[in-house]
Amino acid sequence: MIPKNLSTPCYVYDMALLRQTLDAIKSETAGHDNYHVHYAVKANANPEVLRCISAAGFGADCVSGGEIRAALDNGFPAKDIVFAGVGKADWEIELGLEAGIGLFNVESIPELEVINEIAGRMSRRADVCFRINPDVGAHTHANITTGLAENKFGIAMSDMEAVISAARQMDNVRFVGLHFHIGSQILDMEDFVALARRINQLQKQLEDEGITGVRVINVGGGLGIDYNYPDSNPIPKFHSYFQTYAKELQLRLEQELHFELGRAVVGQMGSLLTRVLYIKEGHVKRFAIVDAGFTDLIRPALYGAHHHIEKVEGCGEAQAHTPEEAPTTLLYDVVGPICESSDVFQKDCPLPPLRRGDLLAIRSAGAYGEIMASQYNCRALPGVFTINEE
Ligand code: LLP
Repeated sequence: MIPKNLSTPCYVYDMALLRQTLDAIKSETAGHDNYHVHYAVKANANPEVLRCISAAGFGADCVSGGEIRAALDNGFPAKDIVFAGVGKADWEIELGLEAGIGLFNVESIPELEVINEIAGRMSRRADVCFRINPDVGAHTHANITTGLAENKFGIAMSDMEAVISAARQMDNVRFVGLHFHIGSQILDMEDFVALARRINQLQKQLEDEGITGVRVINVGGGLGIDYNYPDSNPIPKFHSYFQTYAKELQLRLEQELHFELGRAVVGQMGSLLTRVLYIKEGHVKRFAIVDAGFTDLIRPALYGAHHHIEKVEGCGEAQAHTPEEAPTTLLYDVVGPICESSDVFQKDCPLPPLRRGDLLAIRSAGAYGEIMASQYNCRALPGVFTINEE
């Protein structure tokens, strides 16, 4: 239950839904001992959320030293941590080596040289996968597409052999596999089919050139969630997702398949709760000015993302509506208090008549919500409240 006096803006995490989501992933991957899911910590690094995911036996996909620390502090075994990112700083590489993380996903030869050098200095050996840019487009927002040749990520396919042989000349790194990631919020399974087929092609190309020893294939993350109907589809389409890879990807004997799901794990379990401060009747628009802004949830402003917004009944400080005013639906532009015109959660959002003090839930905000919050305008970071009821 949400307490009546909850201070807003505030994220609410439904831990029971998180556990159900984790169970769904586990049951869809149960028949595949060689499948390993590393949760993409970037989506949500709240300690309670991380502890729930590590307790369920998942690994962690980290992109910074801070994320490695968060993963270690919250129960992920070092060997189940993989470290990706185009710009790893020396101290982050040292931290990963010191902790004994499982794998580094490497994005360039200069980075490989630095890892080799630091590992040598520390008398360690780093297992590395190369992130290959598969030049596969994903049908998603341009800012979250990563697998095209024009993107900054990964190593070009044509450089793959050169990088692998460079690694084999080095004493302190060991080449173990290939890493890919084509983008985020992908709902069309054909995009994953395209990636799987590209990987099949690359594996064959390597074998034709006598390059073997690819132990790990990592297909990244990217499975999307239903932002329009979070109640009808609280659990993402894990069955189709894992089946797509099981059917399309030609793994060799002894190969492990790694996944790095973020949004699909935590997206639907979170809502941002916010209170209506003012209703402003403009000449062409009706505004619901709320106490959350893009500092709390930046996705609508940054990606034009849609989040379903609804009124939370029985939790407002406002008086209940009298029967005469029984809710019809009105259209509101739901906007925040930040001094920028992009601070809009949704335009023409259908809601029952609102009053000051009413509580709204901005749904599907468990991924890339709290973690992307900022203190712009000297605002406080949003609070977090977890619900543990089954
Ligand atoms: N692996 C790699 C290498 C990634 O770059 C990402 C996300 C993931 C895994 C996890 O992807 P997911 O399963 O969550 O789609 N802030 C944006 C999303 C940025 C995603 C960045 N990379 C948003 O709010 O939509």
